[in-house]
Amino acid sequence: MSDAIRPAPETPEPRVTVRRYSALTRINHWTLAGSFVLLTLSGMALFHPSLFWLSTFFGGGPTLRWLHPVFGCVLIVAWLFMFLRFAWANLPERTDWVWMTKVRDVLSGREENLPEVGKYNAGQKLVFWSFALLVPALFLTGLVIWDQYFYDWTTIPQKRVAVLAHALLAIGMITVWIVHAYAAIWVQGTIQAMTRGYVTGGWAWRHHRKWLRDLVSGRKRTPPATPAE
Ligand code: HEM
Repeated sequence: MSDAIRPAPETPEPRVTVRRYSALTRINHWTLAGSFVLLTLSGMALFHPSLFWLSTFFGGGPTLRWLHPVFGCVLIVAWLFMFLRFAWANLPERTDWVWMTKVRDVLSGREENLPEVGKYNAGQKLVFWSFALLVPALFLTGLVIWDQYFYDWTTIPQKRVAVLAHALLAIGMITVWIVHAYAAIWVQGTIQAMTRGYVTGGWAWRHHRKWLRDLVSGRKRTPPATPAE
């Protein structure tokens, strides 16, 4: 059996925990999430005059205008890191199509009717690939309108298209992010995967049984434990 699976030390009853994310991955993920929240709030202040009051939290308009693309640079670097580490686990499989056709069972929690799921289910993969398209597209359109450094690189009509595209992409990204965060909170026991790095054996068995089977059989490697774990 893989050393990622062991009895939880701090509980009197024999509960099993399964390691899901290393400390490095969690730092990477929360850097990504933090930069995204800051980008959203600062972007909303730039989006419409009625939301300009949000600039108070960023030291006023000029500072906010400077900070917003800097948050974007943090996001793209954190995303690239996350993408390279997780793309392989989000590749589509045949059972993903079956999972998607049974979305009613997914929503009503009848997981016994679904195919066994690997590390990520089809919904998580869809979110992943949506981020994979949206983050670079937001970054590139953002570069076109980053006048402080790149004003001369593009024409005014190109900048006009980029402003519109940037706003539409941001709306798409916020929508996907709401789905992602909602699912993480809605499925009980998921948040602790990203906060503590491990999940319960019951969670793994219920939601990602194929992944658990692969870990137990040693077919899949697990993230390294941190000294605190
Ligand atoms: C504050 C908001 C966020 C919360 C509460 C949150 C929560 C979580 C949780 C709990 C997981 C683990 C899911 C699992 O292991 O099954 C996760 C995974 C992940 N998150 Fe987030 N997240 C947030 C923001 C973001 C943002 C903004 C991005 C990308 C721009 C992101 C990208 C990812 C990715 C790529 C994974 C790995 C899952 C996969 O590869 O499909 N997250 N998140």
